[in-house]
Amino acid sequence: MGGTRKPYIAANWKMNLDRTRAMDLVKTLKARIGDGDDREVAVFPPALYLADVAAVAQGSPVGLGAQNLHWEEEGAFTGEISAPMLRDISVDRVLIGHSERRRIFFEKNEWMGRKVRAALDHDLLPILCVGETLEERRAGDLEAVIHGQLEAGFDWVREEEAPRITLAYEPVWAIGTGETATPSQANEVHALIRAWLAVKFPGGEVAASLRILYGGSVKPDNAGALMAQPEIDGLLVGGASLKAETFLPIVEFDR
Ligand code: 13P
Repeated sequence: MGGTRKPYIAANWKMNLDRTRAMDLVKTLKARIGDGDDREVAVFPPALYLADVAAVAQGSPVGLGAQNLHWEEEGAFTGEISAPMLRDISVDRVLIGHSERRRIFFEKNEWMGRKVRAALDHDLLPILCVGETLEERRAGDLEAVIHGQLEAGFDWVREEEAPRITLAYEPVWAIGTGETATPSQANEVHALIRAWLAVKFPGGEVAASLRILYGGSVKPDNAGALMAQPEIDGLLVGGASLKAETFLPIVEFDR
């Protein structure tokens, strides 16, 4: 956890929970996190529950995000959701380029810049996800893969708006597998990402201020060690975010 960057703990519920459990979980979270001054907490429910969860989260610091978006504002894109539609129901952030979108649904890397652009244009805070597969890591391609994902995602981002973006490093081999990157392995890749940012935005301010979250089998018992790393500014949690018993200890990693 570095310097002045506020810790950011995000819950990616993926295609899990039902309407009642989603609303209950946010109620519990809302009651527990207080004014949210010292950390940022956000949930990313299935799109269908966003409006209901928004009503529960209203008036609290719990951020509310979608798991995906389309870059066009409207049109013939069956099954898709646009940034203005998300804004319309009080959603304030969005995941972009999650590895499940890339791998299972064949979303192309080159789309990510358009998605980030759409989010920024409509005042949604994007979390751009990057990460390598085990094959890519073993083949020595880690750096090239991460750089390629960053290049695509930041294609149309101006320096002054870059701090509105959050990055998430999620090694594909650590997602849902129980196999976590070690804190130092994760920190190493976070440092590589920050170095890339320093080259892309030479002023240095973007690299220093932008938060990089780690995701992949984060649990209550490894959250503290991950957050103790200087380059890890937050956590993007899947499975362990579905229950208050496992998510709250992660939110309160330092207590
Ligand atoms: P798990 O925490 O279930 O490994 O999922 C990580 C993830 O993909 C969060 O976006």
